[in-house]
Amino acid sequence: LIDLILFGLVWFGHACIWTVITNILYSRPYHKPTLKITRLMIAILIFIIPPALSVGIVDYLIGSSLSTPPETRSLLCLKFSEIFSTIFLSMSHFLLGAYAIFSIIIGWICFPWLTIQRRRRKLPECCLESTYTIDVAKELGYIPAESEGKRARYARYRWNELFIVDFTTLHVHLKDLPPAWEGLSILHLSDLHFIGTPSKPFYTWVMDRCMSDGVPDLICVTGDLVDSMTHHRWIIPILGKLRWNDFAFGILGNHDWERTPDHCRRRYRRLKFHEIGNRWEQVIVRGEPMIVIGHEGPWFRPTPDLQDCPSGFRLCLSHTPDNIRWAQRNQIQLMLAGHNHGGQIRIPFFGSMFVPSWYSRRYDQGTFLEGSTLLHVNRGLGGKAPIRTLCHPQVTRIILHRASGAVA
Ligand SMILES: [Fe+2]
Repeated sequence: LIDLILFGLVWFGHACIWTVITNILYSRPYHKPTLKITRLMIAILIFIIPPALSVGIVDYLIGSSLSTPPETRSLLCLKFSEIFSTIFLSMSHFLLGAYAIFSIIIGWICFPWLTIQRRRRKLPECCLESTYTIDVAKELGYIPAESEGKRARYARYRWNELFIVDFTTLHVHLKDLPPAWEGLSILHLSDLHFIGTPSKPFYTWVMDRCMSDGVPDLICVTGDLVDSMTHHRWIIPILGKLRWNDFAFGILGNHDWERTPDHCRRRYRRLKFHEIGNRWEQVIVRGEPMIVIGHEGPWFRPTPDLQDCPSGFRLCLSHTPDNIRWAQRNQIQLMLAGHNHGGQIRIPFFGSMFVPSWYSRRYDQGTFLEGSTLLHVNRGLGGKAPIRTLCHPQVTRIILHRASGAVA
C-alpha cells in the first residue's frame, strides 16, 4: 500500500512537470505536425512510462541480460557487462530516486503553493471590472454549430460553455493619460477561430450585441481570426458588422500564421482596419497622439523595431501575453493580448492546466500590472477545440480614465 501511495505521489508530480513542459513547447513557433508528435510523446511519457517502470520493466531487462549463461560470453565481455550493469543500476536508481523526489516537490509543494497564490491574486488597484453573461444559443433559439461531425457533437454537450459569452467592462485608471481621453472606450476582441463551430450566427449575434452596447472609440483585434484554409471568407461578413468612432486595429495570431495570413491581412484592410503587423503607428485620437504597436511574435518576425518610435502613450496589441517582458522594456502603458483562452478547460479550484505559454498558467486570463505595463489577457471568443468548461468566451470593453492616486 505504501508503495502504491508513493507511486501516486510521484506520478502526480511527474504529470505536473510534463504539463508545464508541454505548455512551454506550445508557446514556441513550431508547426502543427511537430507539436502533434511532441504531444503524443509527452502523453506516452506521462501515462505509460511510470506504470511501466513501476512493474519493474527496467529490472526485468537488466536482470535478463545478467542471466545470460556465462559460457556464452567471453571473459572480457562478462567483466564489461558486470561493470556496466553495476554502474547502470546504481546510476539509474540514483537518477530515478532524485527524479522521484523532484516530482514530489513539484507536485505536492510547488503546484499547491502556486495554485493558492493564483487564487489569492486580485485585480490591480487601478482597475474596476464588471461582467454580464449571455447564453447566445438560448438567445438564438438553437445551437450555433455545424450540423454534423466531431465539433458539432462536442458543441451539443450540456456541460459545454462554448456559447455562453462574458461581456466584460474594464475601467482602467492610467497615469499620464491625456485629459481628452477620459472615458475613451476600446472594444477588445480576440481569438475568433473561424472554423465552422461556433457557426456564423453566433459571431454576428455577438458583434451586434457589442454595437448595441455603444459604438466604441477604438477597436483592437488581437489575432487568431481563422482556423481553416477557407474561413477567411467569414472575416468581412462578421467583423464588417463593427463600427467605431476613431480607429480599428488588427493583428494576426499563430493560427492565422498556420493558415491564410495574407488573406486575413487583406480583409482587415478592406474593412478599413489598421493592419499593423509587427509595426508601430502614430495616430491622433481626440487631438492627442497615441502610438499603437503590433506584436505578432514569435510566429511572425521580426520583432517590432521601436528605435525611431516617439515617446508618448503606447498601446500594444500582442497575440500572446508572453511578450509582456518586451512590453515592459519598451515602456508600453497598455498591452492587450489573447492566445491562452483561459486554458479552455478549467478545473474547479485548480483553474487552468493546459495553457500554451512560456509562463505556463500565469497569464491564462485576466488583468495584470507588471511594472508600469497594464496587461489584459482576453479569453477569446472561439477556439479550435470546441470545448470550454468554467471558461466562458469573452469580449472586453476597456474604458480609460486618468489616474488620481497610487495607480498604474
Ligand atoms: Fe487562439
